[in-house]
Amino acid sequence: MKNYRIAVIPGDGIGIEVMREGIKVLESVSQLTGDLQFSFDHYDWSCEYYAKNGVMMPKDGLKRLEAYDAILLGAVGYPGVPDHISLRELLLEIRQGFDQYINLRPIKLLPHVQCPVIGQTPETVDMVFIRENTEGEYAGAGGIFRETSPEACAVQSSIFTRRTTEKVMRYAFELARKRGKYHKLTSVTKSNALNYSMVFWDHIFDELASEYADVQTEQCHVDAMAMYMIQRPQDFDVVVASNLFGDILTDLGAALQGGLGFAAGANINPERKYPSMFEPVHGSAPQIAGRGIANPMAMIWTVKMMLDFLGHESYGECVLSAMMKVLADPNAITPDLGGKGTTASVGDAICRQLHML
Ligand code: NAI
Ligand code: MG
Repeated sequence: MKNYRIAVIPGDGIGIEVMREGIKVLESVSQLTGDLQFSFDHYDWSCEYYAKNGVMMPKDGLKRLEAYDAILLGAVGYPGVPDHISLRELLLEIRQGFDQYINLRPIKLLPHVQCPVIGQTPETVDMVFIRENTEGEYAGAGGIFRETSPEACAVQSSIFTRRTTEKVMRYAFELARKRGKYHKLTSVTKSNALNYSMVFWDHIFDELASEYADVQTEQCHVDAMAMYMIQRPQDFDVVVASNLFGDILTDLGAALQGGLGFAAGANINPERKYPSMFEPVHGSAPQIAGRGIANPMAMIWTVKMMLDFLGHESYGECVLSAMMKVLADPNAITPDLGGKGTTASVGDAICRQLHML
């Protein structure tokens, strides 16, 4: 019997609602397999916590999370708390503090899901983004000078270290080598305009490409990439991008796979020195929070990624299969997909399918 200790941070809004379904699915997996157990410790770190305590998480927050096998996070964000506070003081704190330098985001259109781009199918929309996750444009280096004067000036610098850039690209090359599609890696760049950071990025990519002769490589400028992902998504297999470019393009990817209700993500520390954190791409969606209609598929897919990371890919595949079975029933799905299902009814249906597999 393997017992995993999971830290659960549901966060705000629909983060709390979808988290319940994610946990439900993990409990079903545990019941079904008989050889996996999860113990969950809940942490209420969120914007609500911030409103009461003036901080997103306690000072020793990272220390308290350090010993877990994984962290599950819903979403944070609440009107009244500036988004840069909730993002920087909780999410980025954990991603950077635990050196989760890989952000893994699958972009895969599941059967029965409508793609907004005509003609696309589950065969054509199937790629994985590796986004650099601890530095780059989101390093937080800069300042605002003479803030209150007419001469006010803001500086925001990007930081690209050779160490992290190389590790992120190596991870992407290894994945391209392993994944069965084209063994192809696309690097997203903008070295025509960003003549230091992206030239450096390209240089490291070229260096590694010569080590991975069995992986096909290409480089695309980020603006062109946004267009190609719509025009010919079938050409992409594994994609590596900086923090900012990956952030933007994976939301475009989320649209291609049927919306944020499907976009799953993992923040990974590949050395396993620190726990990795699994969180859907979407935010707390205040407009629909409290109504029980958020699509829990992204959270449940995220849970599947956690199972994969813990070495239980076959159970991860079962979770994805159960999701696909539920998607085949137009009455079961949530309103973002045109159905009348609720967050809880979708979670329940996925658990029922798991028991039938
Ligand atoms: P959002 O992802 O919360 O919502 C964008 C749109 O997608 C809305 O129309 C929402 O209703 C819809 N949506 C998102 N997830 C859905 C789901 N599971 N099912 C059905 N519909 C879904 O992004 P938005 O509106 O830009 O931000 C809202 C708050 O969330 C902000 O405070 C923002 O800072 C925060 N946020 C937090 C993130 C995180 O915790 N990782 C990521 C993105 C935003
Ligand atoms: Mg984003």
